[in-house]
Amino acid sequence: MTPSLIHKHILLGVTGSIAAYKSADIVRRLREAGAIVRVIMTENAKRFITPLTMQAVSGHPIHEDLFDVRAEAAMGHIELARWADVIVVAPATADFMARLANGNANDLLTTLCLATRAPIALAPAMNQAMWQHVLTQDTLQVLKQKGIYFFEPDEGSQACGDVGPGRMMEPVEIVKKVSQLFVTGMLAGKKILITAGPTHEAIDPVRYMTNASSGKMGYALAQAAFEAGAEVSLISGPVHLAVLPHVTCFSVVSAQEMYAAVMKIVTHYDIFLAVAAVADYRCQHVLKQKLHKEEEQTQLQLERNPDIITAVGKLTKRPLIVGFAAETEDVIPRAKQKRKQKNMDLIVANCVGEGMGMNSDDNEVTVIGANFEKMLPRMSKQQLARALIEMIAKF
Ligand code: C5P
Repeated sequence: MTPSLIHKHILLGVTGSIAAYKSADIVRRLREAGAIVRVIMTENAKRFITPLTMQAVSGHPIHEDLFDVRAEAAMGHIELARWADVIVVAPATADFMARLANGNANDLLTTLCLATRAPIALAPAMNQAMWQHVLTQDTLQVLKQKGIYFFEPDEGSQACGDVGPGRMMEPVEIVKKVSQLFVTGMLAGKKILITAGPTHEAIDPVRYMTNASSGKMGYALAQAAFEAGAEVSLISGPVHLAVLPHVTCFSVVSAQEMYAAVMKIVTHYDIFLAVAAVADYRCQHVLKQKLHKEEEQTQLQLERNPDIITAVGKLTKRPLIVGFAAETEDVIPRAKQKRKQKNMDLIVANCVGEGMGMNSDDNEVTVIGANFEKMLPRMSKQQLARALIEMIAKF
């Protein structure tokens, strides 16, 4: 496993070059590193390697046609463009580079490149004369200026018998380069403490009160903070998520436990990111025996849980504080008020419901500071986490 590739969504584009036979190896290595890979093949790519091979190594059907009704019904091209954390085209032919530089969207792969917000990286492969041709070199410069990443070709013997630059970079190196795309170093040297997930508030030995939080946003932020070079600790409520290697995780159950765990260590951190959906109330008396249902009605006496952010905000040696506000109405005004009330530096406001926010894979938020408000449109929680970490690092 490669930490920065774990769970990453990688769209691998394969275009028509003899180096396409190495694309299967790239897929295999990306998956071994922890990534989820979907493959798009151009018509000419299929002359060099079969869709069946690429399907077998990726574990997913191949995407090949912009106008395939069945494929569009399963995962449409816009959805696929949103799904991607990165688009890697390996091998990328001179023709593909030229079409992309020209802004064409005349097949599925070029269309996806225009439709995505994810970074795009190209590993060119072609005859050495074609690579060195002034038109190809001009195209390379145009694409680089537009922010396209290049894994430039190696020198050596070529399938056509020539010797020179144009051989596709070896799969092992390509995978390394893809993993480096996610490692930014923006929070290098910083220590960040994150709370995530729900809390469980016991009613009796078998029952508890909780909420719909899955912990996905907090875990995605922990992963993104790690990739940004921070030393990350996570205080997690009960969730069903895989442990994050390279993140120190403390498991807690109740709000009081989360409060105690945070207050014990928070002064050692530069940034406190409170993502957990902490239960506001707990039972005043947790029953020692199971509550029986003989009665028509029963009443639980609740009392307030401590507010963790507020307590951290009052510390004299206080870290930078970033909180979340999940609301169903008056989202922005409520978040603004909460930011001030709880002495947060930034608050991330999100409207929950309709497939977004709690327990979903996507989110759409507005980040609010003392003098600014920035909306981040709907995207996956992983993509959002990277955007938020970048904003926090700049802040
Ligand atoms: O007031 P509300 O619960 O909406 O505030 C949300 C923010 O406050 C989140 O960042 C959450 O982690 C934090 N919070 C907290 N302690 C609580 C309740 C919420 O730190 N008891």
